[in-house]
Amino acid sequence: MDTPFSLGQPNVCAEAPVENCGIVVFGASGDLVQRKLIPALYGLFRRHMLPARFYILGFARSAMTDEMFRERMRTAITEACGEQNADTLNSFLAMCRYVSGDYNELAAYEQLATRCSVCDMDFDSSGNRLFYLALPPELHPVVVERLSEAGMTGEGHDGRPWARVVFEKPFGHDLASAVTLDNRLSRALEPHQIFRMDHYLGKETVQSILMFRFANAIFEPLWNRRYIDHVQITAAESIGVEHRGGYYDHAGCLRDMFQNHMLQMLAITAMEPPTSFQAEQVREERTKLMRSIRPWPVDELGDWIVRGQYAASQDAAISPLPDYRQEAGVAGDSATETYVAARMLIDNWRWQGVPFLLRSGKGLRRKVSEIAVTFKRVPHSMFGMTSKTQMPANVLVLKIQPDEGIDLTIQTKQPGPKSCMSSMALSFKYQEVFGITPPNAYERLLLDCMQGDRTLFWSREGVEVAWQLIDPVLAAWTERPDLCPLFPYPAGSWGPEAADRMLAATGRRWRRPPEMAGTRITD
Ligand code: BG6
Repeated sequence: MDTPFSLGQPNVCAEAPVENCGIVVFGASGDLVQRKLIPALYGLFRRHMLPARFYILGFARSAMTDEMFRERMRTAITEACGEQNADTLNSFLAMCRYVSGDYNELAAYEQLATRCSVCDMDFDSSGNRLFYLALPPELHPVVVERLSEAGMTGEGHDGRPWARVVFEKPFGHDLASAVTLDNRLSRALEPHQIFRMDHYLGKETVQSILMFRFANAIFEPLWNRRYIDHVQITAAESIGVEHRGGYYDHAGCLRDMFQNHMLQMLAITAMEPPTSFQAEQVREERTKLMRSIRPWPVDELGDWIVRGQYAASQDAAISPLPDYRQEAGVAGDSATETYVAARMLIDNWRWQGVPFLLRSGKGLRRKVSEIAVTFKRVPHSMFGMTSKTQMPANVLVLKIQPDEGIDLTIQTKQPGPKSCMSSMALSFKYQEVFGITPPNAYERLLLDCMQGDRTLFWSREGVEVAWQLIDPVLAAWTERPDLCPLFPYPAGSWGPEAADRMLAATGRRWRRPPEMAGTRITD
């Protein structure tokens, strides 16, 4: 395929080796495992990226034989990845086994330990173990404590064999619960054994921001308050809460998307260059950036944050979603927000005064996640007919999903009349250049766990700093709801108009299609 870019040989292409190991999956009969985890493990297997010797041991309450578990996983893989080569799929499923038990009972973990030891021998997997907790957060501490009591969290004196535990978000419900959780985990696990997962960090396009910023000399000198007017970070979804109403109604958009994915995207965009691509240094720079975010002024919250809740659209062709309050598992009088837009400022030398404008929501017009950096306009227009304000600013768009890639809008002379100028985009499309869609984020993160690399995982400090920022807003919404009302918005729109007004007050406006160019308009 002809593309405007030629892709050279990779300059640096390193993938650390993966040691043989067992992968123990808690919550193995659940939705997350079937939709994300097992298809990701299978994807790695198919590309020969799992270790030479490994096994997958499912653990859940439901009674199932190994064979029944394999059949479930076969269905899950076929649904997620399409029709598969039967031999490859059978070879993968041959590595899968299952144990049932109660998450609270020590006896179940003793049985699990015995089963793991047998698998270690059968599969020659060196005794290394990765425990993946695809479980509601309230079960995390008890599972870790029982694993420890059953002697499964210890490591050899030289770190071999190793034991690592992966936790799915949310990490707590607020700062106090996150601290309590971490204190309990730290009694059973060393920090290097804890992997706090945020799948946005595993997205190829989010990782590529680091290379874009720190492997090119031309952008970094412009990456500051002198040249950048503002940054917009959007994570919009057209779907509603689907079957997760029960969870979501207690979480809301601020906890579900802002406290984690949105803040991580902000941190990666704005952080200082780490001295090396080592986990501790990258994580520390992200956390340092989060520490410099100015807390929102609670007394003027409505000027800084807008929250909304989707209502059924008048036109089912625009969105088929019902009112949020009619969704299964959602309270009929719910005041939970399904949309948040926020203005943020970063108090450091690089970013003083530059607004970071973040928005995320469900039931919006289309699925799109992007980071758009708008540069300042030219200081003076020398093209007589065009005033400075008529000349659009350059915008650099890091397109996280879909249509992954990077766009940079520039002004250019149109052929013909002497003073005829128009905007065009220099456009890099991931699919066109690499010929593939980006690998699944779970594949990257699972591989990193097996390699013991925590670069793309949350640190304890990071989680706590994020909650410190979010907690006062949650408290204000409960105690003084009038300061920041909950605005309804029609499903299939771009959120409440109050969010447009908030930006208009700063002289800016949200990006909308066609600026958010893209071909797919639904999730
Ligand atoms: C999850 C949230 O972390 O991210 C979901 O809990 C949300 O509510 C999802 O739908 C969005 O992820 P993605 O990768 O589809 O943008």
